[in-house]
Amino acid sequence: MKTAICYYSRHHRNTRKVLEAMAREGEVDLLDVTTRQAVRLEEYDCIGFASGVYFGKFQESVLAFARQYLPQGKPVFFVCTYGGGDGSSTKALSEIAAEKGCPVLGQFGCKGYDTFGPFKLVGGIAKGHPNAQDLENARAFYRKIQAQNPHR
Ligand SMILES: Cc1cc2nc3c(=O)[nH]c(=O)nc-3n(C[C@H](O)[C@H](O)[C@H](O)COP(=O)(O)O)c2cc1C
Repeated sequence: MKTAICYYSRHHRNTRKVLEAMAREGEVDLLDVTTRQAVRLEEYDCIGFASGVYFGKFQESVLAFARQYLPQGKPVFFVCTYGGGDGSSTKALSEIAAEKGCPVLGQFGCKGYDTFGPFKLVGGIAKGHPNAQDLENARAFYRKIQAQNPHR
């Protein structure tokens, strides 16, 4: 199964660390939405969208990327990291997927070290995350995604 994961990860590269763990489980291309100008997602069996949670949401460029490049009917999954909680951060992406008739195979989230704003004063929250257990959970999640796909 060939997978592309379109991501935004800036604060501490937490999300990128999670994606690198997943990518070790199979044939996965990690596409940074801020550097890729044009992509063909048609050639992939499955598409992931990933981001840190910023003010309760996925970064806008990930959503814009999904709107522009996600082919109709392509299976998708979502990945995020967050300092406190993921809340309803995948709502907008779920709506885009629904509009395009794309089945959502699953969603993975874990804590990611957060030194934003006042948290910096206390040395940050979710220190040490993603940790080894988070990365193992991420790999297990991706294996489940693979198991759902007929092209594995
Ligand atoms: C500008 C900004 C806003 C954030 N807003 C939230 C938030 O609303 N909820 C939350 O749980 N974490 C929030 N965080 C923490 C990040 O979600 C967390 O550190 C995440 O792992 C960052 O991912 P990245 O390192 O891949 O960019 C915020 C961080 C930043 C820098």
